[in-house]
Amino acid sequence: MNLHTVLLARFKAALVAIGAPEDAPAPLAKSTRPEFGEYQFNGAMALAKMLKQKPRDIAEKIVAAVDLQGIADKLEIAGPGFINVHLNAAFMAKQLESAQQDPRLGIEQETAKTIVVDYSSPNLAKEMHVGHLRSTIIGDAVAKTLEFMGHNVIRQNHMGDWGTQFGMLLAHLNDKLAADEVAETALADLEDFYREAKVRFDNEEGFADRAREYVVKLQSGDGKCLTLWQQFIDVSITHSEEVYEKLNVSLTRDDIMGESAYNADLQNTLDELKAKNIAVEDQGAQVVFIEELADKEGNPAVYIVQKSGGGFLYSSTDQAAIRYRCGKLGADRTLIFTDARQALHFKQTEIVARKAGFINEQQTYEHCPFGMMLGQDGKPFKTRSGGTVKLADLLDEAVERAQTLMAKRESDLSEQERQEIAQKVGISAVKYADLSKNRTTDYIFNWDTMLSFEGNTAPYLQYAYTRVQSILRNAGVTAQSLSGSISLVAPQERTLAIKLLQMIESINQVTSEATPHVLCTYLYELASHFMSFYEACPILKEGVSEFDKQSRLRLAALTASTLKTGLELLGIDTMEKM
Ligand code: ARG
Repeated sequence: MNLHTVLLARFKAALVAIGAPEDAPAPLAKSTRPEFGEYQFNGAMALAKMLKQKPRDIAEKIVAAVDLQGIADKLEIAGPGFINVHLNAAFMAKQLESAQQDPRLGIEQETAKTIVVDYSSPNLAKEMHVGHLRSTIIGDAVAKTLEFMGHNVIRQNHMGDWGTQFGMLLAHLNDKLAADEVAETALADLEDFYREAKVRFDNEEGFADRAREYVVKLQSGDGKCLTLWQQFIDVSITHSEEVYEKLNVSLTRDDIMGESAYNADLQNTLDELKAKNIAVEDQGAQVVFIEELADKEGNPAVYIVQKSGGGFLYSSTDQAAIRYRCGKLGADRTLIFTDARQALHFKQTEIVARKAGFINEQQTYEHCPFGMMLGQDGKPFKTRSGGTVKLADLLDEAVERAQTLMAKRESDLSEQERQEIAQKVGISAVKYADLSKNRTTDYIFNWDTMLSFEGNTAPYLQYAYTRVQSILRNAGVTAQSLSGSISLVAPQERTLAIKLLQMIESINQVTSEATPHVLCTYLYELASHFMSFYEACPILKEGVSEFDKQSRLRLAALTASTLKTGLELLGIDTMEKM
């Protein structure tokens, strides 16, 4: 059950009962301090203004009218007219008891929507860079959370596998293969390969012309050229897959819908834009003038959909992609994860697609931008020599560092267990460090903080989970076998209890705003509340009554399953020991 929804419905009914208009604001917030109860309803002030009455009088009327029987014990009016809601302990306990025995933690699924999630989407001409790491990690967490809530998620890996840069690359690959190299070795390092091709393009007599020829051939579907291209793409995709596997993300080959997949549709899309008079000719090119985004002088933004030579570009493909996703796939929502520098492109793309009717009023197009990953020096994350950091290497380093860390910790784990744990801790640390930051801001990549066992980190949460597991082990029980009733007496029990019941509120925020950090903060707070609870309310100590022991074990077990479920949604592994 969603507590917030239930309370809100009751308060709204009360507003109507006291004569408030249907659309009167009904803000209901979580309390910031336990003394103020669990929730605070703040609708009295605005309504008082609307009805020209005293806020406190209105608050009193709301309190008299609201039906919270069996849900809240006490409503108290504070300050100018805040209404503090103190929930009934037995009511909370009932909710917790059923959540504890439910694999879904008592969280109901929503009415299913079709949601396209466009993420990772690296450019295959080069190695995947840190920007794609962010897109991959954040997009995957959001996709999983949407699925958990019952939605039909369609992953779309919009790989950059087409475009003029492939002319140069294919010409170079052709020569390497002619000199008896195999594609896998020639393309072992895409960065190097790209650089070599570029040097030849800039300096070698005749190479640039050949490169341009390859572009034309590729676009006209020349067989030999397509075979070369396919070889290139296959090797490059394998590089990305190596990263996906290390990261343990849910993307598969079936999710790839690269730019090239839209080739056959680009002309149709353009024709439609032209027929509707949205795209017009301008100096030989086909463009859309976007008045909505005019500059200060009133000049409309220019959005090119076809270059003067007839070539298509990034925007042409995105128009075709919207047409496909909103039309054929019937996407109610489309979420796209790229760095913030592409914000304008997606804004323009949406405006144009809406004018064209490729996307209708009920459908949303949500660009979910993220900031940059920065090095310790606060500058964009690069290798010491200023090159692109190879993601596979970065992830290997994470595991190595976790190994060193694990070796220092005292434990009775076997060598193999240690290795497995280090693997999980290392990768999770990198992922969680990214996920836990508000995605729109830049963040500094720091090995020491992300691998710390203190603070809002993966190791801290993984450790909190194993801690509860060891309590259950020591008690000789399993989560499923627990059945005593839960009682909430100590303030720490109440604080933990309400937190446990609020998981759904964080999840809802993640699915509506595509912000996994909200769930991270939630889990971190939950783990911290658990630690305070465990300190104040011993479980296995001598002198604890059997009744209290059972109740506390159930709270502990529910904490563990909540942590596990939450971390799973984020793509973070848990283990039984560490
Ligand atoms: N390949 C692009 C890049 O690396 C991201 C593509 C995002 N999706 C899209 N539909 N444009 O920046």
